[in-house]
Formats: sequence, structure tokens, C-alpha cells
Amino acid sequence: MTQQKRSTDNQQQNPETSRLALPPSFGRRRFLKQAAFTSAMFATPGLFAAELSVTPSSRSLEGPFYPDKLPLDTDNDLLVINDSITPAVGEITHLSGRVLSKAGSPLRGVTVEIWQVDNNGTYIHSRGAGDKTRDGNFQGFGRFLTDAKGQYYFRTVKPVRYTVGGVFRTPHIHFAVNKNGHRIFTSQMLIKGHEDNKRDGLVRRIRNRKALESLLVDFKPLEDSKTGELQANFDIVLGATLEEIEEGKFNDTAGERPRRRRKARRSEKK
Ligand SMILES: [Fe+2]
Repeated sequence: MTQQKRSTDNQQQNPETSRLALPPSFGRRRFLKQAAFTSAMFATPGLFAAELSVTPSSRSLEGPFYPDKLPLDTDNDLLVINDSITPAVGEITHLSGRVLSKAGSPLRGVTVEIWQVDNNGTYIHSRGAGDKTRDGNFQGFGRFLTDAKGQYYFRTVKPVRYTVGGVFRTPHIHFAVNKNGHRIFTSQMLIKGHEDNKRDGLVRRIRNRKALESLLVDFKPLEDSKTGELQANFDIVLGATLEEIEEGKFNDTAGERPRRRRKARRSEKK
């Protein structure tokens, strides 16, 4: 039996393990205020079972360091694996957003996947920096099924910079969206204003400023948090948010034709 199958069985048999366990520092009342829609998600039996039937198609783009072995827990709380009492290390971040069509309609029932490094800059992928530096309490990957408003929610840690195989990367979180089992979107979210963005070769190759801005997300202090938790909001607009078309390569036209982009640049100079 594969690791992924064991994970599926575990979640189907015990939906409690799929729910987000809130840390004492983050009161339930305040949590519900911050992300009211999530309460319905956590209280909906079978929601995660439905989600588990969605798997990326084999021909779809996985993106750099998409887990080659999924973790035993694939829910939306990356800080805690199953019912472990030890959370991951890092700056706790409440990451939410919506998946929208280009016309602005919410996409309900699509699966948002994220994967990222832990606080030591290590992926759970076997080609990541390796088990020696890996935070064994960090899930590294999570999934969430969007609600009627197209909303998703994850609890994770703020990503950090890393260098793997001699390649430097500014902090980022990988995103994918699956609809009916097919990958419809892949990209990477970046931290707005982060000093390492300009050192990142992949970011520097994005010529279209507007396209780049579609990936830049503010990490702000969470209101009333006494432990310095953060919140970040990343809306994915299909056809407008910059997509990763090959591993580590972006379609920086972000839905625009090259001719129109050149025209836009000329008008910017005026
Ligand atoms: Fe990455």
C-alpha cells in the first residue's frame, strides 16, 4: 500500500484528523471572526472525503518540488501533522483567498493545493535539502476544497529563502488548482516587498510588472495576535494571475498578447 493510500484511508476513517486544531494562542472566537467561512468547512462531514477524490492528472504540471511522496496528513493545517502535539516551527501565517474566473465569478469545489519549505528552507520532497535540516513536524503540503464563494484557507508558516542545487530562491509558496481531477492552474506566491525578490533569478525573468504584481502578497500582522501571527490573502484569478507554464518558467504575459504589452510599455513612458 502506498503512503498516499494510507493517508486517504486515514482521513476517510477519521475526519477529525482533517480538521484544523487551533493553538491556545489563537482563540476560537477570534478565529471564526477572521475566517468565518472556515467554520462551516471544518464542521462539514465528508468534505475532505470529497476532496480526496480529486487528484492531479498525470499530464499536468506539478511544479518544482511538488511532493514525490505525499505526507500522511494532507489537510489545510500545515502546522500540525495529524494529531501530533508538537507544531512546526516558524512564523504562523493564516493564508486565505479566493479562486475566481476572469469575469470574477467564484469557483466552487475546486481543490487548492499548496507546498512550501519549512522554517529551515527544506521541502518534504526527496530532492529538497534533506532530512537532516527538515522540520519533521511541518506538513509541507496541504489541500483545501473551495466553498461557494471560491474561498480557501490554510494555516502554515511564513516561507523562508532557500538554496537547493546552487539555485537561490526568494521565499514563496507553490500553488495549484485542480478542477474535476485536472490541473487548471499552477503558480508561486511571493512576499510583497521582500528584499530577496530582486535576487531571485526566476522573479527577475518576469518582465511584465503587472504580471509580477499578481503574485506579490502582503504578509500583515494578524489583528489582536499576541504571538506575532500573520495573515496573507492571495486571490487567484484564472487568466489574470501569472501562471507557471513549465517548471520554474512563467507565462509573464498573464493573458495579454505581446503586442499589447509593448504598447502598454510605451504608454507608461509618456
Ligand atoms: Fe520552491
